[in-house]
Amino acid sequence: MTNSATLHLPGQEPLEIPIIRGSENERALDISLLRAKSGYITLDPGFVNTGACSSSITYLDGEKGILRYRGYPIEELAQKSTFVEVAYLLIHGNLPDQYQLTEFSKKLSNHSMIHEDMKHFYDGFSSTAHPMVSLSTMVASLSAYYSEATGRASVKDLHINSARIMAKVRTIAAFSYKKSIGQPFVYPLDSLPYCANFLNMMFSVPAQPYEIDEDHVKAMDLLLILHADHEQNCSTSTVRVVGSSQANVYASVASGILALWGPLHGGANQQVLDMLLQIYENGGDVDGFVMRAKNPNDSFRLMGFGHRVYKNYDPRAKIIKEHCDRILSKLGVQDPLLEIAKKLEERALLDSYFVERNLYPNIDFYSGIIYRAIGLPSNMFTVMFALGRIPGWIAQWKEMHEDSQTRIARPRQIYIGENARTYIPINQR
Ligand code: ACO
Repeated sequence: MTNSATLHLPGQEPLEIPIIRGSENERALDISLLRAKSGYITLDPGFVNTGACSSSITYLDGEKGILRYRGYPIEELAQKSTFVEVAYLLIHGNLPDQYQLTEFSKKLSNHSMIHEDMKHFYDGFSSTAHPMVSLSTMVASLSAYYSEATGRASVKDLHINSARIMAKVRTIAAFSYKKSIGQPFVYPLDSLPYCANFLNMMFSVPAQPYEIDEDHVKAMDLLLILHADHEQNCSTSTVRVVGSSQANVYASVASGILALWGPLHGGANQQVLDMLLQIYENGGDVDGFVMRAKNPNDSFRLMGFGHRVYKNYDPRAKIIKEHCDRILSKLGVQDPLLEIAKKLEERALLDSYFVERNLYPNIDFYSGIIYRAIGLPSNMFTVMFALGRIPGWIAQWKEMHEDSQTRIARPRQIYIGENARTYIPINQR
């Protein structure tokens, strides 16, 4: 097996570039010494072809539509595991035994309350503020309460800080929702498992008894598993970049939440629902929206379609679609938006524009329909994505800090501005 490639640059001796191979035979050229040896850098806007780290957390093959967490196929985890177990797997590297799982779950219960002072933060937000704003702000603010998380020290204390983030993010998210609808905050209950605890904080009110629907719990658990990690996407790379400066884990995760919010990334799940509603209100005009998405002079894109790495059906979207009908019928919900989504997908997948560009539904295409059936408003969809992604961000942050090759993230650039010029005093310009 060849271990290097030879690079011929104009006017220079041939340069040997080491070839790196991953455990699934992924190949990379190690160009870390390229500039030192040749004076050249590589230019790759959007990091389309750039590996930023080696990782043993998540494997994905976008051509074949494969996704595995720590070696376990996503299909199997979705069918057999729970979100808390998957979180443990991602953070610690292996599935927990019963004792480990119980202890991990206990930690998530014990840390679910937020400092009472933090409740006042909500008074500073208008009730119309997007819940991603309060989520990111308040996760960053946790550093003010847990100062031992500062800098490198936060790696040592990660077991406790990761439990705090995972546990408290639920409470913060549910309180944001309660604030937005003017209802009193409902405190977490240690006796309830992870998802049930969240749903109770979201939907129970002091004035009436609330019964947690097990089907809602299962649907949420499934969606959180599917969102738990996705290797070096925009938000995870943000968490790593911010963490590489030795910013604490709360600051790093808060940055990830903000990166996730963008409509081209996790924010797409809310946009998909808005798009489906628009189509519904336009009398189900699926063809008109497909035409708009294809028009190069129209900035409109089919939200929930396309992916940087999947050039095949996103395996997470496949699982969600398979569960959509079952979950909705179990919940007794008939949602016309599901039919519109299916029609839109069918129409797009027959169209040469989408076929030639390998554009398939991604994770955001069908997830909102399930969240809607559970009773979540669309502005909470990206918050739900963030809740699911927290263990992935923590695992990636931990792995980065434990990797002796980690250096502060600092890309280079090709400067295309003015050459050196002389300063002209203002009265002479
Ligand atoms: N609708 C219409 N055309 C599309 C779409 C879409 N959803 N997605 C990509 N295209 C077209 C582009 O216009 C481009 O066409 P061209 O070659 O004629 O210029 C081609 O497909 C390639 O698209 P790029 O934007 O270059 O692909 P990139 O990898 O940079 O972007 C992205 C990926 C951002 C996901 C893109 O597909 C998109 O905007 N999708 C809609 C938003 C979305 O659903 N985001 C969620 C992604 S999943 C996640 O982050 C959790």
